[in-house]
Amino acid sequence: NTVGIVGVSVKEGQNLPGVELAPEKIRSGGLLEVIKSLNWDYSDKGDIKTENIQIQERPSKIYKFNDFKNADVIGAVNEKLHNTTSEIAELGQFCITLGGDHGCASGSISGLKKVYKDLKVIWIDAHSDCNTPETSPSGNYHGMPVAHLFGWIPDGSVPGFDWFKSCLQKEDIVIIGLRDVDKEEKTLLAKHGIKCFSMHDVVKYGIAGVMEKTFEYFRKDGVDHPIHISYDVDGIDPTVAYGTGTKARGGLLYREAHYILREVVSTGLFVSMDVVEVNPLLDKEKEYFHGDNKLIKGTETVCLAIELCASALGDTLL
Ligand code: ARG
Ligand code: MN
Ligand code: MN
Ligand code: MN
Repeated sequence: NTVGIVGVSVKEGQNLPGVELAPEKIRSGGLLEVIKSLNWDYSDKGDIKTENIQIQERPSKIYKFNDFKNADVIGAVNEKLHNTTSEIAELGQFCITLGGDHGCASGSISGLKKVYKDLKVIWIDAHSDCNTPETSPSGNYHGMPVAHLFGWIPDGSVPGFDWFKSCLQKEDIVIIGLRDVDKEEKTLLAKHGIKCFSMHDVVKYGIAGVMEKTFEYFRKDGVDHPIHISYDVDGIDPTVAYGTGTKARGGLLYREAHYILREVVSTGLFVSMDVVEVNPLLDKEKEYFHGDNKLIKGTETVCLAIELCASALGDTLL
């Protein structure tokens, strides 16, 4: 079994410096050693970096969202990521995308969806990331990839994204961990009937109940579908994942964060995961022992990201 890894050293979907450092820190913290210790091979595609990316000149048309913040860079990065995740999926490898901000998810998921036509997505997040440029309070793309994947931001309306085709239907996604949703996002989620489990629901049904309901929802048509997890670490409580740019109190506990992964692994349908929004400039260095005294190093949230990858690869220590 092989894991295909791609890093997205990009921060342009939000305002704080630091998220672009995460892929490098997660690797130097011990990710590859942990992967090997779990008896997986890996194929590391390296990091997509803004300074290496070729930004194309805009076609001579006015886009509906012509002044979109950092659109050309984000669009070019996501096109590259789209091609990389679809290559990894094509080879039948488990695909891990290391963000970068959550704006990379439209690239990673659209690429995977090209290969896994019936892909389902579990979106773990304090936020629903379904703003459109018209509803966004910040103008930051990391708050919009869900809307983009659904086509709520029309194809062809954002510069840099001429290559992009919206590819998710409402029944393809379940969002877990919500507690900081903007007013207009809430209206959109309700209008389109998106399946959401807020932190209130996590307490009400327990994380086990939430996962059962999620799998039931995906199996409505009586057949199994491949599953992708888009794991925004701010879905996890700030007492556990402090190193992230848009924190919200009252999130998933450490055990719940891993429980989700364990349950998805046990379906046998898990094909890929994004781990995003880790910002190594926002929390302190730590060291944790993993398994047979293998050291993982980095900030608390970098260590957590490595542990999430371990659980996704079937580690049952966590
Ligand atoms: N809803 C806010 C916005 O649109 C925050 C989004 C945070 N997104 C994230 N991926 N951390 O700006
Ligand atoms: Mn978030
Ligand atoms: Mn907010
Ligand atoms: Mn997010």
